This record gives sequence, C-alpha cells and structure tokens, in this order.
Amino acid sequence: MEQVTLTATTGFGLEAVVGRELQRLGYEDQQRTDGRVTFTAPLDAIARCNLNLRSADRLLLQIGKFPASDFDAYFDQIQDLPWERWMPANASFPVNGSSHKSTLKSVPTCQGMAKKAIVNRLQRVYSCELDETGPDCAVQFELRSNQCTIWLNTSGEGLHKRGYRLKRGVAPLRETIAASLAQLSVWNRERTFHDPFCGSGTIAIEAALIAQNRAPGFNRQFACETWPTYPQELWEQAREEAQDKIDQSECMPILATDNDYHVLNAARENAARAGVEHLIHFQEHDVSELKTQRMYGCLITNPPYGERLDDVDEAEQLWTELWKVTQQWPTWSVFVFAGSRDFEKIVDKRATRRRKLYNGPIECTYYQYLGPKPPRIPASI
Ligand SMILES: C[S@@+](CC[C@H](N)C(=O)[O-])C[C@H]1O[C@@H](n2cnc3c(N)ncnc32)[C@H](O)[C@@H]1O
Repeated sequence: MEQVTLTATTGFGLEAVVGRELQRLGYEDQQRTDGRVTFTAPLDAIARCNLNLRSADRLLLQIGKFPASDFDAYFDQIQDLPWERWMPANASFPVNGSSHKSTLKSVPTCQGMAKKAIVNRLQRVYSCELDETGPDCAVQFELRSNQCTIWLNTSGEGLHKRGYRLKRGVAPLRETIAASLAQLSVWNRERTFHDPFCGSGTIAIEAALIAQNRAPGFNRQFACETWPTYPQELWEQAREEAQDKIDQSECMPILATDNDYHVLNAARENAARAGVEHLIHFQEHDVSELKTQRMYGCLITNPPYGERLDDVDEAEQLWTELWKVTQQWPTWSVFVFAGSRDFEKIVDKRATRRRKLYNGPIECTYYQYLGPKPPRIPASI
C-alpha cells in the first residue's frame, strides 16, 4: 500500500497523549515536536486515524517539505508537488499558513503565491478552469527557519467536533481535551468514574467512549471522505474495524452530576447521540451533598473557573467544597482541570503532579492527586 507522511496536530502538552494513541493504532515510529506528532504510514492510516484519534486536533497529509528562503524557490517547489494525486479538478482549496524565524515573513504573500502555484499546476494537469465547487482540500503551510512544510487537511473541521454535542452548558470543555484528561489520569474501565461538575457531560461521555473502545469520530464525516482520490473502501474498512473492536462487556459505573437540571438534560441528550447514555448515571446533585460507598474511584472534573472577577470568590468556594467532599473519600484519586489560579493554595494541599494544558486559548492547569492503588485481585478468584 502507498505510504504517506501524516501529522496529527495537538494542543500544547498533549503530544505524548496523541503519540500513545497512535502507538495503540500501530504507528510506533513517530516524531514529536511542539503541537505535532508526525509519522509515516500506509494510506489506510488517514481513515483509521481520523476515526480513532481522541485527543488530536486535526490530521494533516504532508505534500512536501523543502528549504525556502526566496519567493521564486518557494513558488517553484510548490508548483512541482503532485497536487493532482489528491486534488480533483473541482477541489476547493483555501490556503492558510504561518511563518516563524524565516526570510519569507509575509503570510498573506506566501498564501497568495502558494495558491497561484497550485492553480498553475492543476490547470496544466487538468487542462481546464478550476471552479472550486467540489471537495474540501484545505492547504496549510508552515515556514520555520526557512524550511517550508505544506499539507492538505484530511479532517476538515477539527476532530473535537464528534457530532454528539449539539447542546452545551456554560464553558464546555473541548472533547479532545476531555479525552486527554481521562487518558492522563489513572482511571480505566475497572475503576468508578465521577465528574461532579459535569455540565454538558463531555468528560463522562469521552470516558464512556474509551471504556467501550468506541471510535470518537464514528458519527461524523471527514474532508478526505469526499475526495475521489482516496479509496472509499478504506473508509468502509476503517468503520468496520471500529465497529468490531467495540467492547460491550460490563465496566465500572460512570457517574456524572451537576446542580443544574437543564444542563443535565443537555448532557443526557449528548450521551444518547454518542451512543453511551446507558453507561452514564446522570444525577442532579450539589457538590456539597455528594457521598459515596465506592472505593478506589477516580474523580475527574472541570469546576467553574471564575473567569470573571466577580465569579472568583464563588469558584474558589466551590473548589473548597469539592475538596472537603473528597477528603471523605480517602481511596479515590482526584483530578481537577482548572484555570491557572492556584487550586493547591485554595485547598492547601500540594498536587502529586500538575500539567499546563490549554482549553482553546485559555491556559489551565491539570492538578493530579493520586490516591492509593486498588488491591490486586488474585487471578484465581
Ligand atoms: C465549567 S462547567 C463544566 C463544563 C463541562 N466540563 C462541560 O464540558 O460541559 C462547571 C459546571 O459546574 C456546575 N456547578 C456550579 N456550581 C455547582 C455546584 N455547587 N454543585 C454542582 N455543580 C455545580 C455548573 O452548572 C456547570 O455546569
């Protein structure tokens, strides 16, 4: 099968999470840089990765990589790339990009030149005018230290758009971040999960998808699915593979609570669209009234941050309330994704580990408080 070079783009700090997801898909040999994981794989990886990656933002197909420190070389190199291998004559191809530490600084000029070079190439190959009424083949370039990399976006809309979250609460978390939070914790399908500020249910839904090994992109379409140059049967095979690997066996409970009745209804509808409503117990509860008999669970949550100044006290009070509750649950591990203000100071307890992550443009910290490990059950029982 033809080999392609692919780049999964990620939020800063999530490269290793995406790298591990790719390893599980069988793509071991990878190069991780800031916000990117690049790897070479057979052609079917485009369909498999788009469907299965949980924490990546987009999957880009590398078309070329070359030194470019003057406009002539930049134009010629782009014109020489085999665009027709991927783009049909009616492809629609907006061009976007960025430039860092490079002689070619003007991004609008580079955009315009790349567009013209691709138009020249396609007109020559197809011998027709390009009406751009067809498939979405968005082009992305990056100039870094006079090295240009140019890709086609195979995903289209960001991979966080799973298709299930039509209703959202206030300040919803990106689905890709929610999936990372679950994967960066010690939670697995054999431990109880609880999000006490579940909002539209994103973390619980992503946990349920992970628990059943369901492909997060199963219910959406991807740009490359409309390219006549990419074999349809590879999508069919990837969807079949995703269907076959769903694990329906029983897992530990996934609990999602919030004190807002309306947002819980939205969360239930989102979970139903994701096909996991039967796995999540949604309940209306104020954080202060939570109790549990369960042992060795994982609490993973994104409490209100208090983005506005007048909300700050209220948010900090809720953090204190949450901490008081979890102190009654000594066997649990607690993971809190909060704004950059110091959660540790408010609750007066140093985290086992903290990670800087981003929710869109907002810098956040993921505080991890590890509880004891669950006892091993002897294999004979
Ligand atoms: C930042 S949002 C969570 C967003 C969620 N992660 C999502 O993706 O939609 C915080 C949630 O905390 C809930 N909340 C606020 N005060 C609460 C309280 N005292 N007890 C329980 N939930 C509360 C709000 O209703 C809101 O849904």
